[in-house]
Order: sequence, then C-alpha cells, then structure tokens
Amino acid sequence: MKSWYLLVLLVSGAQTLCVTIESVPGVGVDGTIQTELERTVSLVCRPGSAPDLPPREGWEEEEELVWLRNGAVVSLKAGNQKGSSSVCVTPIIHGDNGATFTCHLRRNASIQASVTLNVTYPPTLSGSEEVSVEEASPLVLRCDVFANPPVMSPLWTLNGSVVDLSAGGFTVTNDGFVSQLSASSAERSLHEGRYQCTADSPVYGAKTRVFQVTVTDKTTKFPLVPIIAGVVVVCLTGLFAIISRWSRITKCCK
Ligand SMILES: *[C@@H]1O[C@H](CO)[C@@H](O)[C@H](O)[C@H]1NC(C)=O
Ligand SMILES: *[C@@H]1O[C@H](CO)[C@@H](O)[C@H](O)[C@H]1NC(C)=O
Ligand SMILES: *[C@@H]1O[C@H](CO)[C@@H](O)[C@H](O)[C@H]1NC(C)=O
Repeated sequence: MKSWYLLVLLVSGAQTLCVTIESVPGVGVDGTIQTELERTVSLVCRPGSAPDLPPREGWEEEEELVWLRNGAVVSLKAGNQKGSSSVCVTPIIHGDNGATFTCHLRRNASIQASVTLNVTYPPTLSGSEEVSVEEASPLVLRCDVFANPPVMSPLWTLNGSVVDLSAGGFTVTNDGFVSQLSASSAERSLHEGRYQCTADSPVYGAKTRVFQVTVTDKTTKFPLVPIIAGVVVVCLTGLFAIISRWSRITKCCK
C-alpha cells in the first residue's frame, strides 16, 4: 500500500526540524485518512525529513516524540517514544470519525504534524419486518439514517408509490439518526400494505428496509376490574337479601 507523507517544516538555524506521519491507509492531500468501521489505521511518526528532503543527520534517533488524540496525550510504551513512534487504531468505531492525531517533538510541541480520520459508514437499513397495528391505534415506522457521509431524508413508499402524507394523515420526522413515518390512527383502507424506506448514500448506494403492515380489527377491551367489582356487589346484595329474608322466615316459623 502506498504511503503518503505529511510535513511540517520548521527552520531553526541551519537545521531543518520536522516530524512526518506515515500512515496505512495513506493520508490524502487534505490531511485526512479515509477508513471504515472495524478497519485498522496504523500511524508512524518520525522526526526528520521525508525522502525527497536532505538525508537524516543523526539527531533524529535521539528525539522523543509525543502523540495526541484530539489534544489528549496518548500513553505510549517506553520503547515507542524515541526515534520513531507508532500508534495503531483498531478496530475503528463511530467515535473515531473526525478524530485528529497529532505527533510532536517532546522538547518542542510546535514541531508537529497531524492527520484526521474520516470514518465512512452506511445507514443500517436492510431486511424486512412484519408490523401489526390495531385499527385506530398509532402506526409508527422507524428507519436508521445515521451515516457518514450523511444521507438525504429517506424516501418512504407504500405499495410502490411515494407515501402521500396528507392523504394518509402521515407525519415524517428526521433527527439525523432516525427517520420516522407515523400516523396517529391506523385505518385498514389507508394504511395497510408494503412500506419501504430507502436512503441513498453517495458512497454505499441505496439501502432499503421493508415493513409489511397489517391493520387488525379493534379488539374491544373489557374494563375487567369494574366488571369484577360490579359482580361482587350484585352477589353480596343478593346474599344479604337472602339472609334478611331467611331471618324473617325463621322468625315467622317460631
Ligand atoms: C520551537 O521551535 C520553533 C521553530 O523551530 C522555535 O521558533 C521555538 O523557539 C522553539 N521553542 C522552543 C521552546 O525551543
Ligand atoms: C469523508 O469521506 C466522504 C467520502 O469520501 C466524503 O464525502 C466526506 O466529505 C469526507 N468528510 C470529510 C470531513 O472529509
Ligand atoms: C397495498 O396493497 C395491498 C395488497 O395488494 C392491499 O391490500 C392494500 O389495500 C394496499 N394499500 C393501500 C393503502 O392501497
């Protein structure tokens, strides 16, 4: 794999002091390293010049180096500080996106070089889901849209045509993480069918998730507790009636 070099050249007296960062994968001209989730990025920092500059003069081997990640010092093992120093970022996670790694000479922090990670990932949209919603209950469908580079608002379709928001009483929201299509009161004639949410990533192409929505009959929910209470009251009343009747009956038998 081709390596790229990023330089910060500083002149002190006759000597050219600088540090270079070599990386796999390579550094782009804008100082960013393109990578993806789960991958590995390895960085090596060396004091001194790049190959196209005058040869090393020996001072480099004694130079101590410091690495920073977003301005915070990276702890390095003892043998990994002098002459050259490497840092390995693995596995790459979402939080590494935009992270800046800086290497500088311990004795002079202004002699430094930096690289920034650009971690690309698609929205996690795939597969299909069966959704069952009761008539008159809210219908809510959610799609992941968290991606780098960011995706435009996804396209929602119902039975192959773009969802008609006003006809179906739908609302769509998007917070950059989730796009949500919802209707407050499900109706079989309006809402049953096959929904698709499609987000187009400039890097990963179109990603789609399918929702097969079924609107079921409204089940009449019996208010169970009041019914039990009512039954108990009726029984007790009957029982008292019988008891009082009985006492009257027994009285008259005496
Ligand atoms: C660090 O290096 C810069 C550039 O070579 C120089 O101007 C500055 O005086 C140095 N600082 C120290 C503390 O040596
Ligand atoms: C990261 O890489 C993607 C894909 O190449 C690009 O579209 C995006 O602009 C880059 N972001 C930054 C901050 O460089
Ligand atoms: C979508 O298609 C299914 C199956 O053909 C049909 O039962 C349903 O009514 C359609 N939905 C809408 C909203 O037209």
